Amino acid sequence: MSIQAQKQPKKITTLQLQRMKGVEPIAMITAYDALIARLFDGQVEMILVGDSLNMSFFGASDTLSATMDQMLYHTKAVCNGAKSSMVVFDMPFGSYDTPHEALKNASRVYQETEAQAVKIEGGKERASIIKALSEHGIAVIAHIGLMPQFVRSEGGYRVRGKDSVDTQRLIEDAKILEEAGAFIVLIEGVKSDAAKAITQSLRVPTIGIGAGNDTDGQVLVWSDMFGFFEAFTPKFVKKYGDGATMIREGVARYQAEVKSRAFPNEKYWY
Ligand code: KIV
Repeated sequence: MSIQAQKQPKKITTLQLQRMKGVEPIAMITAYDALIARLFDGQVEMILVGDSLNMSFFGASDTLSATMDQMLYHTKAVCNGAKSSMVVFDMPFGSYDTPHEALKNASRVYQETEAQAVKIEGGKERASIIKALSEHGIAVIAHIGLMPQFVRSEGGYRVRGKDSVDTQRLIEDAKILEEAGAFIVLIEGVKSDAAKAITQSLRVPTIGIGAGNDTDGQVLVWSDMFGFFEAFTPKFVKKYGDGATMIREGVARYQAEVKSRAFPNEKYWY
């Protein structure tokens, strides 16, 4: 083995993540390119190439028009930047409607990128898909609760787990998906008591987004948390930076210095 190869940081594994349940919360964040992934790498256990990129990166009004080819391109870029965090590929709408289709598309993810897991949205009706993928050696995260890929059919984004009937439904979904082979259950937009009950009912870790502080980990969309995405800010997003203001102020200074010929000066020319 070359020194170069020995120096490569080790990738976090599915087993390591599962062992974190009840020990240490898992930190996950989205990224869509190598530049940003490199900044997050090693600071969070997991990087999700979320189909949210269709909104924040591509400018569409929802996630539904993201395609396999687009997601593969961004995942390759993220993998170029992430050498130790686990990279997760978000299966786009329409890419996992049947076990056969899901297997065909998820196999592309493993063959064409270095992502270690895929994520799919849906409740117990997706159990046969998760089973097919995990039986064929593909690590799957099940995404339950508020599922952005259902925004058109449901006419909006709705918080789940508001009553005991819905909470029981979510617990049942989560248990069936765990049984089918999901190694993590991601819970989005669910009342915190319901998310806690789901977390306590599972052996595998849960990762929450807008689901309170009792899940086994948290995920946020990077462009939301650093203030780049301005169209709307969900209640659960804490801003860890004001990226849009930083860029606007920077570009205004650049524009003024170009117009006044203050930039470049001799420090910046050959
Ligand atoms: O696409 C995405 O970024 C996601 C997160 C909201 C979990 O699915």
